[in-house]
Amino acid sequence: MKVGILGTGFMGKQLASRLAAAGHAVKAANSRGAETVPAEALTTGATAANAEDAVRDVDVVILAMPHPGFAKIRELIATLPEEVVVIDISNYFPGRDPENPELEAGKAESEWTRDYFGRPIAKAWNSIGMASFESQGRPKGTPGRVALPVSGDRERDREAAIKLVEDTGFDGYDAGTLAESWRQQPGSPVYITDLTRDEMGPALAAAERERLPARRDLSAQVFAERVGERASPDAETVVRIARALFM
Ligand SMILES: NC(=O)c1ccc[n+]([C@@H]2O[C@H](COP(=O)([O-])OP(=O)(O)OC[C@H]3O[C@@H](n4cnc5c(N)ncnc54)[C@H](OP(=O)(O)O)[C@@H]3O)[C@@H](O)[C@H]2O)c1
Repeated sequence: MKVGILGTGFMGKQLASRLAAAGHAVKAANSRGAETVPAEALTTGATAANAEDAVRDVDVVILAMPHPGFAKIRELIATLPEEVVVIDISNYFPGRDPENPELEAGKAESEWTRDYFGRPIAKAWNSIGMASFESQGRPKGTPGRVALPVSGDRERDREAAIKLVEDTGFDGYDAGTLAESWRQQPGSPVYITDLTRDEMGPALAAAERERLPARRDLSAQVFAERVGERASPDAETVVRIARALFM
């Protein structure tokens, strides 16, 4: 597939290198211009672009940025051809992100993103922590391979996103429409807990919507205490903490 990635931070640069390694034609952009795209994003054949060029003539656009970046690309995304698959990987974290009254009132984050851009989107990769994304990718069929939920209102969007998730080293799990996508938000049993395909269905079903914000905010405090002067927690530690808080 031809893939444009907007955002080359922790997640975007790994997405760019993995998807290019899997044979996709990848263009990667950040907020500042092609010459500032980090080299790690380009090690396997992705090319650096500015945001306008990254989304031109592609099959898929991946939004790999926090919500504050959305304003600058709103027009660009809203005017993409309808058949382009737009995949959002974002999570809302109050404190890091400006307060969003609709999300505070309980709207599903992906439904907010869909309405913000006024076009269909899919949600994927939001539920994997960056340390696990870096270290837990495995070939298809490997026992215990980590699974990631994929939501979207159009079947073709989910199919494309599942294919790309598989190509980054994880089982893609069809989690249904965006109305149900709150089940994969921060604070839910599937969020950064590295579950397998067999564990995914029961864990999505076990999510309790009204408890997610409190659990998300608690986890933000716990993880903030573990970074800084100390090294950031490794994948195993992140999963251990997340399972204790969210499951
Ligand atoms: N980190 C994780 O563990 C993780 C895991 C899953 C999902 N997520 C979610 O994924 C999103 C990205 O996370 P991250 O950790 O990768 O963020 P990050 O390291 O802060 O990187 C954000 C990237 O977005 C780019 N950006 C911002 N506004 C942009 C714009 N208008 N056009 C193009 N690029 C723009 C930034 O560009 P510059 O480099 O020019 O500033 C930067 O490259 C967040 O919503 C996060 O919650 C994160």
